[in-house]
Amino acid sequence: MSGNPPVYPVVWKEDHVALIDQTRLPMEYAVVEIRRYDDMARAIQTMIVRGAPAIGVAAAYGMYLGAREIQTEERGEFLTQLETVAETLRQTRPTAVNLFWAIARMQTVARQTLGPVSYLKKVLLETAQGIQAEDLKTCQAIGDRGLEVLPSTPQKLRILTHCNAGALATAGYGTALGVVRSAWKCDRLERVYADETRPRLQGAKLTTWECVQEGIPVTAIADNMAAHCMKQGLIDAVVVGADRIAANGDTANKIGTYNLAIVAKAHLIPFFVAAPLSTIDFTLIEGSAIPIEIRDAEELYQIGSTRIYPLGVEFYNPAFDVTPAELITAIITEHGAVAPSHLHQLHSQQVV
Ligand code: MRU
Repeated sequence: MSGNPPVYPVVWKEDHVALIDQTRLPMEYAVVEIRRYDDMARAIQTMIVRGAPAIGVAAAYGMYLGAREIQTEERGEFLTQLETVAETLRQTRPTAVNLFWAIARMQTVARQTLGPVSYLKKVLLETAQGIQAEDLKTCQAIGDRGLEVLPSTPQKLRILTHCNAGALATAGYGTALGVVRSAWKCDRLERVYADETRPRLQGAKLTTWECVQEGIPVTAIADNMAAHCMKQGLIDAVVVGADRIAANGDTANKIGTYNLAIVAKAHLIPFFVAAPLSTIDFTLIEGSAIPIEIRDAEELYQIGSTRIYPLGVEFYNPAFDVTPAELITAIITEHGAVAPSHLHQLHSQQVV
């Protein structure tokens, strides 16, 4: 095991938020200081901070930073201006529901808290800190509940994951990588296989970095190698995160997750989604209603600053896809793992 400290991508520091700049890892570990809500919005949009739960925590702090910038002492006017802050943050990334969930929670607290505006601001900071602390605990619970459903053989598992659903994508510990971490701690992990995850390479850059930090054995593969690895008997289970899960269990996650679920099914390999309850959107009946973010073509045609395509080519760059519920073995939440068809049982546990 390595002695590296745990990774916390979003940290409150007395009067500002410190974000690990995830666009620079693994070559450079840099921290960005955020003091204004519009800078937080930009950090989310440009993916300095990314991953559904981490975006939620960042947006909650963004709401506080915005609240802090509001000058009025008049409550009604304060709430009106806070809505402008909320709308700016909502416009950053459309798919991860944790963003909208965290903003709505901050707004509800603002509306329901009595007292002067200065007191409201204090309560908003405490609420953002609470969301962060809760997410860390939630991820640890997801990791531990995941152990209950991982295949019982072999004793040491080879787990394939996609994108980065690790500490960097949450308040810490991770969802899919939380399950990996818990398995590692209990001596149930042989190694992680990390999909590179084109086009932004979160698997290559971030998942492998987290594993190396923690001394977890990791093998990187290009995305198109997963079926071959399964056929060779190298993979015992697939565990991925989620950006939004519809009420029927259809799951939006990083583009390429759907391919992985299909090839896992073809090889009879269990396919798990690990996510907090805050990622489930019970207002959406099925996955076709989940908004899919389309990002800049540049992410596809450039690697670093080098263009890899000839001029004259057109591009399509959806950042997420939706895996149908029937391809998912179980959804692992902080309240335990359920088959997608039983997701509704968790509805009453959700904090809104
Ligand atoms: O575009 P990203 O990097 O924000 O996408 C991240 C993912 O798709 C993760 O798998 C998901 O947010 C779960 S993070 C615990």
